[in-house]
Amino acid sequence: MANHPRPAASAEHFWMPFTANRQFKASPRLLESAEGMYYTDTDGRQVIDGTAGLWCCNAGHGRREITEAVSRQIARMDFAPTFQMGHPLPFELAERLAEIAPAGLNRVFFTNSGSESADTALKVALAYQRAIGQGSRTRLIGRELAYHGVGFGGISVGGMGNNRKAFGSSLLPGVDHLPHTLDLTRNAFTRGLPEHGVELADELERLVILHGAENIAAVIVEPMSGSAGVILPPQGYLQRLREITRKHGILLIFDEVITGFGRVGEAFAAQRWGVTPDILTCAKGLTNGAVPMGAVFVSEQIHEAFMQGPEGAIEFFHGYTYSGHPVACAAALATQEIYQRENLFQKAIELEPYWQDALFSLQDLPNVTDIRTVGLVAGIQFAPHADGAGKRGYEVFRRCFEDGLLARASGDTIALSPALIVEREHIDAMIERLADAIRKS
Ligand SMILES: Cc1ncc(COP(=O)(O)O)c(C=O)c1O
Repeated sequence: MANHPRPAASAEHFWMPFTANRQFKASPRLLESAEGMYYTDTDGRQVIDGTAGLWCCNAGHGRREITEAVSRQIARMDFAPTFQMGHPLPFELAERLAEIAPAGLNRVFFTNSGSESADTALKVALAYQRAIGQGSRTRLIGRELAYHGVGFGGISVGGMGNNRKAFGSSLLPGVDHLPHTLDLTRNAFTRGLPEHGVELADELERLVILHGAENIAAVIVEPMSGSAGVILPPQGYLQRLREITRKHGILLIFDEVITGFGRVGEAFAAQRWGVTPDILTCAKGLTNGAVPMGAVFVSEQIHEAFMQGPEGAIEFFHGYTYSGHPVACAAALATQEIYQRENLFQKAIELEPYWQDALFSLQDLPNVTDIRTVGLVAGIQFAPHADGAGKRGYEVFRRCFEDGLLARASGDTIALSPALIVEREHIDAMIERLADAIRKS
């Protein structure tokens, strides 16, 4: 049984993020400890973690090396500023990350989250265009159904209506959106990347005609959208975006907050799919989720454009108190060590066929309208319940949890993204519980 009783504390004070607070508090789901592929909840039940926390614990839970590195660092130096000061760890970490980053993306700016990484990337893009004498390039292009966190920049280029509509006209001006690439009519139940939809990238040419290339700074996309329910890039789509952006002098930003660190195989999706952006964001798996941290990679050429003017001038008026925080750096260094030593990015590729077969065994269950998988990610989409959109997805999620599986619901899609240490037996157990929940929902 649990070591601690269910907290007697009132549930009133914690305003929970992205949560139906009243529904949750009437019937809470509380996790208490974690080890390997499992959480234990406050009732002492074991729950298989089908989502690597929230897409972040790619090396599994309770990694001793990370715990020890963090403990050692906090005892040695809890904090040090990085504004006009420094300490060795972010330099070491940036060098290490540059080794695994897509070719040429070897300058690294540290943040504390995916949202901060997205906003930082957009600011770098705007400031870069100005630095190279292209100051009229102020327009940003995002995509429908995209998630780039919750900062004003991120929700402006983002494309999930619920995340935007309460904030009215306070979003960034001068933003446009590409169409999303989810197309069940043509692509439902495709194994791997969808065959149809490369032409959706050509919509960028339309936006270029509409706004003028000389007014567009950057295009930002998730190579694979996670939060909107695992939406995969059609074959050739990312290559096409790269060609069009390059042709028009528009920067291409990949938001790899979810796809970074082995989720789809290779360190980054950019490498898996052979397309190198100009700017790349990450967070989550950077520290295995143990300490908040994000990062933005830029090419040497972009960085160089900032390193002009008097040497004593600050080149980029941007940064966070905790950029390159020593404890986060210690967690990230220990995490990267584990990824490398255990060859975890390869695991997603090796297990991909087994994972895919296991997921596609759900194909004929009631109300399943699509299954999308790549690397160690899956989205299982359901026909909406007669009572409304999102009800069935929530119901499947709730039943899974009751039966000892943590999945993630996004509308009527269930997303799975287990840690890269997952074994076949965990996959089998996950599928069995999910199948049962689908049958009952
Ligand atoms: C692609 C992408 N960008 C940005 C974010 C925001 O990250 P955070 O919640 O750390 O701010 C997320 C979070 O899921 C994400 O998936």
